[in-house]
Amino acid sequence: MTPRLPSLRRRGQVSPGESGPPGESGLAPEGPPSQSVVPPPSAPAHVPVPVPVVQLRRVVKTYGMGDAVVHALTGPTDAEGRALGLDLTVQAGDFVAIMGSSGSGKSTLMNIVGCLDAPTSGRYLLDGVDVGNMDEQQLSLVRNRKVGFVFQSFNLVPRMTALDQIELPLAYAGVKPEQRRRRALAALSLVGMLDRAGHRPNELSGGQQQRIAVARALVMTPSMLLADEPTGNLDSHSTDELLAIIDRLNAARRTVVLITHEDEVARHAKRVVRLVDGRIVSDVRQAPLSGLPPALTDPDGFAQHSSHLAARDARASADEARTETRTETRAGVPAATPTETRADGAD
Ligand SMILES: Nc1ncnc2c1ncn2[C@@H]1O[C@H](COP(=O)(O)OP(=O)(O)O)[C@@H](O)[C@H]1O
Ligand SMILES: [Mg+2]
Repeated sequence: MTPRLPSLRRRGQVSPGESGPPGESGLAPEGPPSQSVVPPPSAPAHVPVPVPVVQLRRVVKTYGMGDAVVHALTGPTDAEGRALGLDLTVQAGDFVAIMGSSGSGKSTLMNIVGCLDAPTSGRYLLDGVDVGNMDEQQLSLVRNRKVGFVFQSFNLVPRMTALDQIELPLAYAGVKPEQRRRRALAALSLVGMLDRAGHRPNELSGGQQQRIAVARALVMTPSMLLADEPTGNLDSHSTDELLAIIDRLNAARRTVVLITHEDEVARHAKRVVRLVDGRIVSDVRQAPLSGLPPALTDPDGFAQHSSHLAARDARASADEARTETRTETRAGVPAATPTETRADGAD
């Protein structure tokens, strides 16, 4: 028997007390003061207010029990040190970088936002739907349809061609073969990889593999692209190419949540949220929600401040020469070729 999904409301539809900007949800006050708070729209009442893609309300996550308990996400604490829970709202069309040092809770947050794990307490509404009461099968449907994952390690299937990889999520969703092929080719074109459709991962550079992973993440037209250190295994040239693709996707109104520890990557986001010890310590808007991401607002000015990429490249080459294991893992992997067809930011 196929379990019924709770009615997934389309974005743009609202129900009382659930929509609107952060802090107006009636569920909980927002966390620390945030420049990202979207002012209440002054539109007439009949104009629908978009439902945020992500609404975390008083979310707490602890691992283990007793003496071994780890408080991974707490949000602010009260005078007695009790966790009040973390609040985070991400509006459709935003491009949010989540930053923080190792152990600050980034992956825990990503797992909850991606419905890979449930909070210990608090609520999570994805596209306005509370996922807290869903069973595992419903959650896997939601992950398939609403979240496009991109991981640091690409997570491609070793012996499958690029095109087949991208068709996988469509196959899981029961899309017919002809339509699968058409949509997968469109996604490949979006990341400039059409001419690599028949290539397997070991025939592609790291940057190209990650572009395939992005195409696979996008092919279901998810509500958000959720990327955990997507540039972590890439050289600076491939990093730039991937970020250019993500910039264009966001310019085409794709919602992006990207976890990174690199300032240079976070510069591309419209909003930067910093975590320390499971709480949000700053939330800074770098570009308006409804506009272009920073790299496309002022490309020349943006590029001028990217000079340290060259230094990073030089450092990486030096590391590579020193580290035999790294050299080995790269052996047989062709160098990244220039992006042939750039993603046009639409599909
Ligand atoms: N499965 C787990 N069991 C126990 N502790 C965990 C688990 N996953 C993460 N933690 C702990 O939770 C905290 C936050 O981890 P994580 O979210 O992975 O941080 P980050 O991704 O920012 O490095 C860390 O103290 C980590 O050790
Ligand atoms: Mg992590």
